[in-house]
Amino acid sequence: MQIKISEYSGFCFGVKRAMDITLKNSHINKKVATYGPLIHNPQVVESLKEKGIGVTSEISKDYDKIIMPSHGVPQELFKKCQALGIEAIDATCPFVEAVHEKVREYKKMGLKIVIVGDAGHSEVKGIMSSCDNDCIVISALEDVEKYDFKNKKVGIVSQTTNSPNYFGEVVGKIAQVADETIVANTICYATHKRQAAAHDLAPNVDVMLVVGGKNSANTNRLYQISKEMNDRTYHIETEAELTKEMFENCETVGITAGASTPDEIINRIKEWIMNI
Ligand code: F3S
Repeated sequence: MQIKISEYSGFCFGVKRAMDITLKNSHINKKVATYGPLIHNPQVVESLKEKGIGVTSEISKDYDKIIMPSHGVPQELFKKCQALGIEAIDATCPFVEAVHEKVREYKKMGLKIVIVGDAGHSEVKGIMSSCDNDCIVISALEDVEKYDFKNKKVGIVSQTTNSPNYFGEVVGKIAQVADETIVANTICYATHKRQAAAHDLAPNVDVMLVVGGKNSANTNRLYQISKEMNDRTYHIETEAELTKEMFENCETVGITAGASTPDEIINRIKEWIMNI
């Protein structure tokens, strides 16, 4: 059986960096936790726990060090850590940090700030805090009509995971009414490259495996894309979910993985397939 690994799959640069920072900050005699799960992968969260790195949903004195995840957090949390004497370790992805920087710049310029993104997402909440929440969040194209951009100078940024087409549509709609529109394309293309590679690979294999947390939004999206192209697509977290029946009359297997899936899990899956 031939195994084809998608050209772009698994950890993105920002997640890999956050993992490295986290592992470097594990100590035997210090209490360390990540603020929320570092990544949406239960196996990784479990393995960090075994190394003494827990997960916390609040800034509490129970910990000596708290690691902020790659998608960033509101600035208040850093201040809270400082006030309580807790060491805050910033593992925010530099691409997300660049969006924070941009909204700070827009604020200094006196622009009406627009963040195109999901208002409930932690990344967006973090970006909002960098301009003191003095901004508008556009979560759907129709939202543009709810605001009056007439005679306004607008500065627009995007959540890193938006699709370029959607971002362009929102920008176009605002530009039709605003006096001046300044746009920073802050999309990170890691997600799109991974999706495009899965889209290309899935129809060219007999069975397609999508590896990653069932709670991972980007893995679920990869599954949808692959399933549309190949009906024999399975979403699995580990090799424990594989069965021989999945590979009946199968000559080629394609594998893609979400941004929070470590190579180690992909390799174990490859090995399992090679053994049948
Ligand atoms: Fe960073 Fe892009 Fe990954 S913003 S965390 S490299 S998806």
